[in-house]
Amino acid sequence: MSKPKVFITRRIPDAGLNLVYAECEVDLWDKDLPPTKTELLQHVPGVDGILSLLSDSIDAEVIRTAGENLRVISNYAVGYNNIDTHTASQHKIAVGNTPGVLTEATADFAFALMMSAGRRVVEAEKYVQAGKWKTWGPSTLLGVDIAGATLGIIGFGRIGKAMARRATGFGMRILVYGPTAQPMAGVIKVDLNTLYRESDFISIHTPLTPETRHLIDAEAFAKMKTNAVLVNTARGEIVDQNALYEALKHHKIFAAGIDVSDPEPLPLDSPLLTLDNLIVCPHIASASTTSRDNMAIIAAGNLLAGLRGERLPYVVNPEIYG
Ligand code: NAP
Ligand code: GLV
Ligand code: GLV
Repeated sequence: MSKPKVFITRRIPDAGLNLVYAECEVDLWDKDLPPTKTELLQHVPGVDGILSLLSDSIDAEVIRTAGENLRVISNYAVGYNNIDTHTASQHKIAVGNTPGVLTEATADFAFALMMSAGRRVVEAEKYVQAGKWKTWGPSTLLGVDIAGATLGIIGFGRIGKAMARRATGFGMRILVYGPTAQPMAGVIKVDLNTLYRESDFISIHTPLTPETRHLIDAEAFAKMKTNAVLVNTARGEIVDQNALYEALKHHKIFAAGIDVSDPEPLPLDSPLLTLDNLIVCPHIASASTTSRDNMAIIAAGNLLAGLRGERLPYVVNPEIYG
């Protein structure tokens, strides 16, 4: 029997790639930059499966262009807002993601951004590099306290809970907001307005959905404390970036740390890059060797299960199984 055909939109770690090569005829997009929309459309016709990255928009046109052989789309990410799951489900195409294995790495990074923005680590490093370090100053580069402060977590799922575990160790008061948020010991469930008003740190951990798009807008910033620090490791579109710029520029909040932006990459002429009180990172929260290897293994497992007609171990549209 001929092997199933798959298109892999970028080289993923060998831990997963080798599993796919063992069973499939692979078309690997082996370049540093993702395929353009046109290139994507050229590579998908006739494939049985697609292994995509979060930077690939797998929309209705891509799904229809792939044609009737397409059975599975395996995303190398836990977030899957880049995939038109509605169209996939209509065509009984299974969509997979990689939850769990990147939870701790992502929370570690969100906590690192929170501490770095609050204590001005990146600004301090630039200060030294620029030759501004002349002496020890009683009020040089003052930041905000993390220990004992109030952390507001928006989206209390896997990564939100991992943030709460870390914050507990820092003696933080923890407020959470989310539709089905289950308060755990030491965590207080609140409405969004209370979270904005009372939090010293706010960390976003929801998926990007129509409901969360621009959830953090000018109105939200107006409710925050002037010493507040915002952290976004979820998706750039959840924050209205113009409102973020205004809030930081006019010191309506103290600082922010973002691992995600809208668009990605952030253009070099973005006004955000002129701010001293903003740390921007290039979407690397899950970028630990172990997490990326495990994501590759899960993404390969989802792809291969879908090709065999089996239920994906991590499926985001289980409704296709009836
Ligand atoms: P998860 O376990 O599904 O958690 C998401 C949580 O958000 C769920 O508890 C969900 O509640 C809640 N939620 C959904 N809509 C909401 C809303 N409108 N307001 C408040 N809360 C809402 O997902 P996860 O594994 O923690 O990942 C979260 C997101 O982080 C991913 O979707 C991805 O976009 C992002 N991420 C980014 C990186 C990175 O590299 N920067 C790495 C990993 C993940 P329900 O369960 O009730 O819907
Ligand atoms: C990364 O952003 C992911 O969703 O896995
Ligand atoms: C600072 O280095 C101190 O000793 O207080």
